[in-house]
Amino acid sequence: MAGGGDLCPAKHAGFLTTPLRRLISDPKRILAGLVEPGMTVVDLGCGPGFFTLPLAEMVGQQGRVIAVDLQEEMLAKLLKRADARGLSARIQPHQCAADTIGTIPPVDFALAFYVVHEVPDVEHFLGEVRAALKDGAQFLLVEPKCHVTREHWEATVVAAGRCGLRPLSGHNVRFARSSLFGV
Ligand SMILES: C[S@@+](CC[C@H](N)C(=O)[O-])C[C@H]1O[C@@H](n2cnc3c(N)ncnc32)[C@H](O)[C@@H]1O
Repeated sequence: MAGGGDLCPAKHAGFLTTPLRRLISDPKRILAGLVEPGMTVVDLGCGPGFFTLPLAEMVGQQGRVIAVDLQEEMLAKLLKRADARGLSARIQPHQCAADTIGTIPPVDFALAFYVVHEVPDVEHFLGEVRAALKDGAQFLLVEPKCHVTREHWEATVVAAGRCGLRPLSGHNVRFARSSLFGV
């Protein structure tokens, strides 16, 4: 199944990190109950780190955030922001290719926020996410309504099921298409 939307360019990083975004999509409110201290988590398509930095705060000193993006410039912006907040020791940047996440350690939680519609082969991507999840891990998939039609979203959820991701109820993200999955 194709995603293959336009790649969000690094020059738009400022829009992704504006404090105004927090009014609609507050990362800690969205991630509450999903992320605990000491966890290893992955932020897939992390961009400049709007979710990565709150994740790093939530996993604490004993935890780790794998920050995955295919754009080196996005990872550089993320690391600069992490340094400024003293969080870089908890963040492991991982530059991937468009067609594969590559090798990442097993994780307790995975997030893909506003990224899957940009991925060329969605089912392959979801299969790789599934393979990275530990037993009992959860995966929060969130897509923007402006770029992803209801039909496309439903096809994405069906593809996730084929990859062994089981939809869980009760974790909706406002103003977006979202699903929490377990394994
Ligand atoms: C719209 S931005 C969202 C960034 C971040 N998740 C957020 O919500 O602020 C999408 C990000 O996904 C990344 N991306 C797109 N395709 C990707 C792929 N196949 N693998 C990894 N990252 C990808 C882009 O480089 C970009 O940084």
